[in-house]
Amino acid sequence: MRAPAKKKRRTAPAELSARLIAHVTLEVRADHSIAAGVSGQSVGLGKFNADASARAQELRAGLPLRSLASGAPATDQGISHLVRRLAGHGLLEYRLGRPRGVDQAVIEPQLPDYWPQTPKLGDADVLALSRFAYLRRRGNDLVLESPRAGALFKICDAKIAVVLATLSAPQSIKQLRRQDGFPGVDLLALLVDCHILFKVDPARPSGLRPDEGDAGLVLWDFHDLLFHARSTQGRHANPLGGVYPYVGVMALPPAVRSSWPGKKIDLGEVSAAETETLSPLGKLLRERHSTRVFDEQRPITLADVARLLGATARVQAKFKSGLDGDDSPQVEFAPRPYPSGGGSWELELYLAVDTCDGLPRGFYHYDADAHALVPIDVRAPELDALLMGAAFAMGAPAAPQILITVAARFGRVSWKYSSLAYSLILKDVGVLLQTLYLMATDMGLGGCAIGSTDIELFARLTGLPFHVEGAVGQFALGRSGEEPRSE
Ligand SMILES: Cc1cc2nc3c(=O)[nH]c(=O)nc-3n(C[C@H](O)[C@H](O)[C@H](O)COP(=O)(O)O)c2cc1C
Repeated sequence: MRAPAKKKRRTAPAELSARLIAHVTLEVRADHSIAAGVSGQSVGLGKFNADASARAQELRAGLPLRSLASGAPATDQGISHLVRRLAGHGLLEYRLGRPRGVDQAVIEPQLPDYWPQTPKLGDADVLALSRFAYLRRRGNDLVLESPRAGALFKICDAKIAVVLATLSAPQSIKQLRRQDGFPGVDLLALLVDCHILFKVDPARPSGLRPDEGDAGLVLWDFHDLLFHARSTQGRHANPLGGVYPYVGVMALPPAVRSSWPGKKIDLGEVSAAETETLSPLGKLLRERHSTRVFDEQRPITLADVARLLGATARVQAKFKSGLDGDDSPQVEFAPRPYPSGGGSWELELYLAVDTCDGLPRGFYHYDADAHALVPIDVRAPELDALLMGAAFAMGAPAAPQILITVAARFGRVSWKYSSLAYSLILKDVGVLLQTLYLMATDMGLGGCAIGSTDIELFARLTGLPFHVEGAVGQFALGRSGEEPRSE
């Protein structure tokens, strides 16, 4: 006699829910207005309906996203509105797991407008890991990230990591389903949406690098794209800037290095009295300093801008050559007054103008070949955000008269140089910044380099993908409003 077949216990499928980030609290007031508490600060979220204020605290444990979808009952509209508002402020994370079960994965948004999307995937679809994706340890967690992704994924079940690792070679979803630890199609779809996985096109078996995206991506090395996205503002949620994270952990290295033990050769003895021998350039180097406050009554003029850009950044000639000998491919060069690694001259200047005599407030590209400014249509709040971001970075009370954003056409450098392309670009930025400092000083203008750049804001202003032509530096410029320095 055959034993009766065992009944399989059906387990509830994993679902995606939105929940508050651990350190965020919600304060619900009697008039149904809600504020979020973040690091001791209160962020007003607005007024909501009675249902939203009654259910707001459920967001601590998490609310399933399917209950908040656009077709959900009208009673859920209020809470749905609250969830979107919290997401817009970057105060939510998203949990994938069975109801009341352990987390399978937790999605931490990295872009301010991230919202989880699950593009449709079928069993025949073939997936592969992006070559920009990486798994690493963060504290006691395992995180899956990519500089291209709108979110990072904390992988809470090691079996899921094993399945994803097998996607180093393309596999169909049908094949993946057979593996122990298959995480379900939803997680795969969320990873495709974040460019951590990509669908391999069977009609284009040209190799994985070109399959992965546009030509601009082909030219990037893994570490360079990661360095660009993580060392700037806009594409990650990590702390950024002068926050002194290691005070109390270890001592600051001294301002001046301790001497080597050898016998010193005193250079003072062999140099003539300094003031007698200082050349005009030597004097200029001494005079140069950073100016962060500008004179509201005396704006910089269009003629000043023309002179400064002409002297520092204008194309001086154009020629073609195979510089490295007969075998190297022919390259077109367009030298400017500052040196550039490999003669690439990949840097472009964009001017955000707040006040300039003879030039309307707005956003402009400097056409270095034509020595002309070309206006670019931008939204006023984004122009304001760019200018105020510079004021914030300088700790200044107001925006600079002009903010120059230095952008790089990355491909001009990475087409030739492996491994060191991005580092060359940053060195070129340093060279250009000093050139701008010196010319501004020579003209009696003030300027200040700015170390943090919001690459997402620049991408929104220009419509250019962050990996094709992106912001790599900034320089505030104007007529100084500071008291002259007493020497
Ligand atoms: C790469 C670089 C980034 C900088 N970033 C900032 C910045 O974000 N905010 C700021 O106020 N000053 C910034 N500065 C200016 C420095 O603070 C300044 O050069 C330094 O304090 C020395 O002062 P001095 O330029 O007046 O000689 C930057 C300078 C450089 C070279």
